[in-house]
Amino acid sequence: IIDGKKDALRKGDEALAHQVGEGKDIMSILLKANMTAMDTEKLTDEEVIAQMSVLMLAGMDTTSNALSRTLELLAQNPDTQTKLRSEILDARNGESTIDYDDLVKLPYLDAVCRETLHLYAPVGRLVCHAAKDVMLPLFKPVRDKNGRMLDAVPVPKGTAIILDLQGSNYNKELWSEDAHEWRPERWLSPLPAALDEARLPAVYSNIMSFSGGSRSCIGFKFSQLEMKVVLSALLAAFEFELTDKEIVWNSAAVSFPTMGLQSEKPEMLLKVRAV
Ligand SMILES: *[C@@H]1O[C@H](CO)[C@@H](O)[C@H](O)[C@H]1NC(C)=O
Repeated sequence: IIDGKKDALRKGDEALAHQVGEGKDIMSILLKANMTAMDTEKLTDEEVIAQMSVLMLAGMDTTSNALSRTLELLAQNPDTQTKLRSEILDARNGESTIDYDDLVKLPYLDAVCRETLHLYAPVGRLVCHAAKDVMLPLFKPVRDKNGRMLDAVPVPKGTAIILDLQGSNYNKELWSEDAHEWRPERWLSPLPAALDEARLPAVYSNIMSFSGGSRSCIGFKFSQLEMKVVLSALLAAFEFELTDKEIVWNSAAVSFPTMGLQSEKPEMLLKVRAV
C-alpha cells in the first residue's frame, strides 16, 4: 500500500484521484507531510507503517466499538434513546447539522457518551513497565503476608504492571453503590466527593478509560467529538432496537461485539428504522 501511495504521489494529482481516498486518506497525508517536513522530522517507511497501526487500533477500533456499545445501550434503554433524540432534534432546529459549539455542549449527549466510556472502556486494561525503581503509593493500605500494613509497595525497574482502567471506573468506593449501572443521569449532577479526594490521574472526568499522565490517550478530545458527530447524525435519522439474537462483548485489546457466544466474527446486529 505504501509503495502504491508513493507512486501515486510522484505521478501527481491525476494518479492520486484514482486512489482509495483520492489522496485525502491518512497515509497519503502523512507521506505528503513527510515531503515538506524538516529533515529531523522526516519518517521512514517503518515509522509510517507503525503510525498507521496506531491510528487503526488506537484511533479507529476504540471509537467505533465505543459507538457500537452506545447504540446497543440506547437500544436497551428506549426512554434514554428518545430523550437523546429529542435533544438532538431540538439542537438541529430543522437544519441538517449542528454547529461544533452547540454539539459539544449538548448536556444529555455528553452524559450518554461519558457514561458509556465510564462503564465500558474500549481498552479496559493496559500493560506498562516501570522505567525506574519506585515506591507505588496505594489508594488504601493493604496487609502483607507478614501481617504488616503497607501504604506503598516497592516496584523494581522493569516490572510489568497491568493497569486495570476498568477496575478504577467500577470502584464503588469512588463512584457510589450504583457504579456498575449505566446511568447517564449521574453526569447531570455533581459526582461523589470521594472522587475529588482520590485524585485519580485520569485526563477525562475521573474516568480512567483514556489513561493518565504523559502517556494518556492523545486522541481523547477527537474521539469524543467523533462519537458526538456520529451519534447526532444517526439518532436524528434512525431508531435502534435490539433483535432477538444475543450480543456478546469479547475481551480483547479493544473489546468488540459478536452475535452469540459461538461466533468469532466482529459484528453487532440491531433493527434500524427511519424516524
Ligand atoms: C520521508 O522523506 C525522506 C527524505 O526525502 C525519505 O528518505 C523517506 O523515505 C520518506 N519517508 C517515507 C515514508 O516516504
